[in-house]
This record gives sequence, C-alpha cells and structure tokens, in this order.
Amino acid sequence: MSKYRDQILQLLAEAQPQYVSGQAIANQLNISRMTVKKVIDQLKSEHVSIDSVHNKGHRLNDYPTVWHKGILQDLLKHQSLIETIETYESVTSTQDIAKHLLIDHSESMLILSDEQTAGKGRFKRPWQSAKGKGIWMTLVLRPNIPFSMLTTFNLFISLAICHTIQQYTDEKVSIKWPNDIYIGNRKVCGFLTEMIANADGIEAVICGIGINVNQQSDDFDTSVPLQATSIRQHRETDVERYIFLRNLIIQIERRYQQFLTEPFSTIKDEYIAVSNIWNRRLRFTEGEKRFYGKVIRIDNDGFLYVLDEQGDIHRLMSADIELP
Ligand code: BTN
Repeated sequence: MSKYRDQILQLLAEAQPQYVSGQAIANQLNISRMTVKKVIDQLKSEHVSIDSVHNKGHRLNDYPTVWHKGILQDLLKHQSLIETIETYESVTSTQDIAKHLLIDHSESMLILSDEQTAGKGRFKRPWQSAKGKGIWMTLVLRPNIPFSMLTTFNLFISLAICHTIQQYTDEKVSIKWPNDIYIGNRKVCGFLTEMIANADGIEAVICGIGINVNQQSDDFDTSVPLQATSIRQHRETDVERYIFLRNLIIQIERRYQQFLTEPFSTIKDEYIAVSNIWNRRLRFTEGEKRFYGKVIRIDNDGFLYVLDEQGDIHRLMSADIELP
C-alpha cells in the first residue's frame, strides 16, 4: 500500500468538487506523476469513485463506503479535538486498538473501523458492528482534570450524540442515562467510557461510541431487533457516514470544551429535556442489586436519585436501566 494514498486522498477531498491535476498533486507531495497515477488507479480499483479527465486532472466524486484516513483528515481539519486519526477495515474492537496505540502515542486520537468482530458493550455484553453500517469508533482524549470531574463526562457526550442524531430524523431522539441514545423506544447508540490513570492523574479517557446508522431491520441479529434500531429506520434515505461523523465530532468538540470549563448545572435543563427516564417505572440493575423504581432527580455531579417500590432512595453513579 503506497504511503502517499492518504495524502493524495486528502488533496482530492480538499479540492472537491473541483479537479486537481496530477502535476499539482505530484508537486505538492514531491513525487512523480507516475506515482500519483499508480495510487489513483489503486484507489479506483478499491471502488473509490474518482473521475480522471485529460487536461483537467482528478476529482473525488462521492464519499466512499469505507473509511479512508486521508478524507477524514480533510473533513476534520478545523477540529482541534483530534490530533491523530486511524482507520481500519476490520478490527476486534476499536477499544482494543486504542489501548494498544496508547502505549506509543500521547496525543488525542480517533480510531474508526468499518467492522468490529468482537465489539464490546457495557457489562461485557457483545456489541454488533456490521460492516459499513454504523459508526464504530473510539476517541482517546487527554483531559488535564481531577478524577472527580469525570463523573459528568458522559452527560456532556450524550448530549452531543443525541443532538447529532436528531439532525437526521424527525422522530424524537432521547438519552437514557447514563450512556444510551434512543429513537422512540429503541436503542440507536451506546457508548462506554474507560479511563487510564497514574499517580499524577488521568492519563487518557477512552470513549467508545457505537451508532447504528444505516442498518435495515433485517441487518440485526434475530436476538436483538426488538431493542435495537438505526437512524436509517427513521428516515427515507441512507445517511452519508463521512458527513455524519464530521457533524458528530463538531458536536463532541463543543460539548467537551463545555465539560472542561463549565459545571453540569449549565446544561442540566437541556439534558433533562431530552432524557427518557422521567415519570415512568423503570427496572434498575446496580451490581448484584435489582429493583423497580422511579427517578426523582439528577444532581449536579450527574448522580441519579431513584425512589424504589419499597420507599428507599438510591443514589446511582452508574446502572443498567431497562424501560419495561
Ligand atoms: C453499550 O451500549 O453497551 C456500549 C456500546 C459501545 C460500543 C462501541 S462500538 C466502538 C467501541 N468499540 C467497542 O468494542 N465498543 C465501543
């Protein structure tokens, strides 16, 4: 695989919808026109839609159906949240890749894969990650904050995801505290946040996000269709994953800045307005404990207060909540 493919794709994406000549690409990268042609032919053979016209040059027609680092580098060039992007065709889990890359990288990273063969959910559940159908990504962030602040991280991130998905459907998108996003009564996205810390504080926050984007109902395993949905099932057309991802990263960057500089109380009303856990009987699992109850309030540290059916109050930091 040519080491220039990402750079060439980045230049094509930057010029889009204009053509860029083979000579201009060659000059910018200090390589021969022959090398440019070879890389472009290779990309075309991988179904990247590039138009080549004599005397005009090359043009990227549409976004490909697989992730290409070069195109993402162009699309996310104004976002300071991410310093390094890595894309893969298939991995076990982007969380595994992130943890491995962390050893030699100290910057923020976005890791994306078209497919995961062993995607992980919370509580060690498997996460279905069909090829090319969703956003299977891990963000590695490097906040310079005390541990205690991390309790509200998920609340800011879930607002970012919820608002991004809401741009793609007229149906109501909501948050199920602490880590799920729903359309109607079905889950469209789940995320999990892990942390690496040392004696000096937080070394990295590893946030794995799975969003069901373009699945039709028969793309899900028969074991889950009743609980899972995708954005595609709530709109008329497929979602362009590249543009969706850019919108998502813009929202996450904004909410992450807010998380670093403002307390949860600033966004609490907004959060409550899009939460789907109010005024209903819910089933909670917290470790070994399981109980039914109703949510009374959420405090400024993001803890949930639940009144159970025996009249006891639980203060929850994290739990599995089912909407019966
Ligand atoms: C959940 O709802 O239980 C959380 C699901 C998180 C899934 C994402 S997909 C990208 C990243 N890699 C994984 O293996 N898991 C997360």
